[in-house]
Amino acid sequence: MDIALDLGTCNTRIYINEKGKVLDEPSVITYDAILNEILAAGKDAYRMLGKTPTKIHAVYPLEGGVIAELDLVEEMIGIFLSKVSTSKVIMPRVVACIPGEITEVEKRAVVNAISSFGVRRVYLIESAKAAAMGAGLDITSPHGCMIVDIGGGTADIAVLSLGGVSVSRTIKDVGKQMDEEIIKYVRRKYSLIIGGTTAEQCKNAIGCVVPPAEEKVFRVKGRDSMRGLPRFVDMKSSEIYEAIIETAMGVVKGIMEVLEKTPPELIGDVYTDGITLSGGLSQLEGFCDLISQYTNLNVHLADDPADCVVKGCGSAIEYIADVESGGATNVNPLMAAY
Ligand SMILES: Nc1ncnc2c1ncn2[C@@H]1O[C@H](COP(=O)(O)OP(=O)(O)OP(=O)(O)O)[C@@H](O)[C@H]1O
Ligand SMILES: [Mg+2]
Repeated sequence: MDIALDLGTCNTRIYINEKGKVLDEPSVITYDAILNEILAAGKDAYRMLGKTPTKIHAVYPLEGGVIAELDLVEEMIGIFLSKVSTSKVIMPRVVACIPGEITEVEKRAVVNAISSFGVRRVYLIESAKAAAMGAGLDITSPHGCMIVDIGGGTADIAVLSLGGVSVSRTIKDVGKQMDEEIIKYVRRKYSLIIGGTTAEQCKNAIGCVVPPAEEKVFRVKGRDSMRGLPRFVDMKSSEIYEAIIETAMGVVKGIMEVLEKTPPELIGDVYTDGITLSGGLSQLEGFCDLISQYTNLNVHLADDPADCVVKGCGSAIEYIADVESGGATNVNPLMAAY
């Protein structure tokens, strides 16, 4: 059995050939700090975020697309893989994605975390490549294409051609940073302290990165920072826009930098085809318009944007045979096997 794994900062997704996507759960784990015991991972753990008693911790063990707490990531992957594996005998081969700008140590940590769960071999693929494949772009032809995968931890921006990355950039702290900005905004303007999950829900419900055409409202509940009592505020789309636009502009700036460094022939191709967006955060209202406004290029959202990376890792499974037979071609998207 071969498995495709998108170990994201916010969500982990698993895809199995023939079956398609078999798991999509928040990358959250809860543990008892006194008994040193894992309590839950995924959806069950997400529900506990910010609501646990002191001895129980609920955390996202990845930060900015890389592993922050190795032991917890190992446990989390173990729980997820055991949910989807049908056989205890056949050890799976895994294709997993990693952000473009990652150190050798960070790469090793991903491989170690995955291998600890009886995996035969781990193959890595850059997130941007996987996203482009999952979005249906042909990355193997000599025609350049540009993909921007915007997730909770990172935005991976790349121009690809002939199976390789021509120019790329990884912007760290995107979705999570926006949630932080919303928390700060509500505290500053309304003296109300809200949690990360509330901020995220508010962003997903009414957030936008262009001035909103129609004002939507989302009620956030929290604690009054002066009196310590519970209170709510009805947040407006324009306020969320104000809070998150700077972070969104960081992504736009990254895209402009990649365009500036792209060789002229490839930029011609990008001019013809435009930019494709994927990743959960690309669904934020106005992201396509904002990028289009600054780059003068057509920008479109991929189908099922949040699933592009895991689908792309899934399509890359078919290249494993090439790597194993030693006949890997230069259009093989997989990086070294471990
Ligand atoms: N409908 C939506 N509108 C706006 N934002 C959304 C929506 N759905 C999810 N998001 C946001 O998308 C982000 C998660 O996206 P995604 O699942 O692609 O991230 P990830 O793969 O876990 O992270 P990364 O790839 O950066 O490590 C979160 O910030 C989440 O709040
Ligand atoms: Mg991702």
